[in-house]
Amino acid sequence: MYIKRRQLIQFSAATAALPLLPACDGGGPVVTADARYPTGPFGAQSTAEEVTVGLDLHGQTALVTGCNSGLGYETMRVLALRGAHVIGTGRTVEKAEKACASITGETTPVALELSDFESAVACAQTVRGMGVNLDMVICNAGINTFGELELVAGIERMFVVNFLGHFVLVNQLLPQMVAAGTGRIVNVGSRSGYTQAPSVGIDFDNLRGEGAFDSSEAYGRSKLANALFSLELASRLKGSGVTSNAIHPGLVQTNIARTAPAFIRGAFEMFGGVIAKSPAEGAATQVYVATSPLLDGVSGAYFEDCNPVTVSGDNHTTDAAMAARLWGAAQQMTANYLV
Ligand SMILES: NC(=O)c1ccc[n+]([C@@H]2O[C@H](COP(=O)([O-])OP(=O)(O)OC[C@H]3O[C@@H](n4cnc5c(N)ncnc54)[C@H](OP(=O)(O)O)[C@@H]3O)[C@@H](O)[C@H]2O)c1
Repeated sequence: MYIKRRQLIQFSAATAALPLLPACDGGGPVVTADARYPTGPFGAQSTAEEVTVGLDLHGQTALVTGCNSGLGYETMRVLALRGAHVIGTGRTVEKAEKACASITGETTPVALELSDFESAVACAQTVRGMGVNLDMVICNAGINTFGELELVAGIERMFVVNFLGHFVLVNQLLPQMVAAGTGRIVNVGSRSGYTQAPSVGIDFDNLRGEGAFDSSEAYGRSKLANALFSLELASRLKGSGVTSNAIHPGLVQTNIARTAPAFIRGAFEMFGGVIAKSPAEGAATQVYVATSPLLDGVSGAYFEDCNPVTVSGDNHTTDAAMAARLWGAAQQMTANYLV
């Protein structure tokens, strides 16, 4: 019984189903509109197609990681529908090819296995070799293991896949983007970054499994890392013409719970249609942030339900010092794979 209850809590939090609970106890993070940035006409029920109505993206190139499933697939589909050339990545080129072949528009499949930094370097090399300017880079791919501690190259797996792999990829692509003086980087984080990350934020002394492991916390930590990476990146890119923002897509019925215990997966499949967004709605925020003319020049912001928000209360999503420290730690952990 204990295990089932714990797993259920993990799942709920991991998919952001329960972020309202902390808000109800009076002490949790509170999300409000961020008045520093423009608010658009879209919201939680908007779809990726709706937020791009009237946009002509012909001549633009987008890179979408994790294009074969869930939010990445819908993001690629809609960007290509609006005319963009989408470079879609999959863990194998076959997966990316299959996804790309199934949609209408100009797409190029590329392999990217985020747990393998060599693969991130190779992916960036392939993209550079295409000789295109990247107008959008959507760091979307991610996992929630729901399981026991797993180490990749001595570092906790979700931290590697959700954050460090993208850290290497983006750093490899940055010189090209900065030289072009344009482009938007969108980091797909999660409310889990402030509802279930460790209370200290990034627990730098526990990234290699030195201390206790809780997969729910570890997922939250990886998603907090996405937000902090975006923040530090925005600060480093100031004046370059390239922007970086982070988003939470909402609770979305995708394959994210694929490794959750069967009874949880079953419940999500059964009730997801009621409590969760569809992939069309879930992809709206990242597609909006990647494309909306209203957001030209906006950088360092954090979005939920298509609008910029700020999270107050006990959380670390805008902790600039932690973001800078994370950048340094990530540099050390991936030093052999950076430009
Ligand atoms: N769904 C939600 O409720 C929710 C809520 C908040 C945040 N998010 C975030 O949204 C993003 C997209 O997730 P989703 O909901 O669309 O889940 P999904 O349907 O499971 O898609 C995840 C994608 O990431 C790819 N991926 C997983 N591990 C990878 C690795 N090691 N290397 C490269 N690619 C890898 C998957 O490829 P394979 O299919 O080959 O494994 C798949 O394409 C994730 O970052 C997730 O954390 C989702």
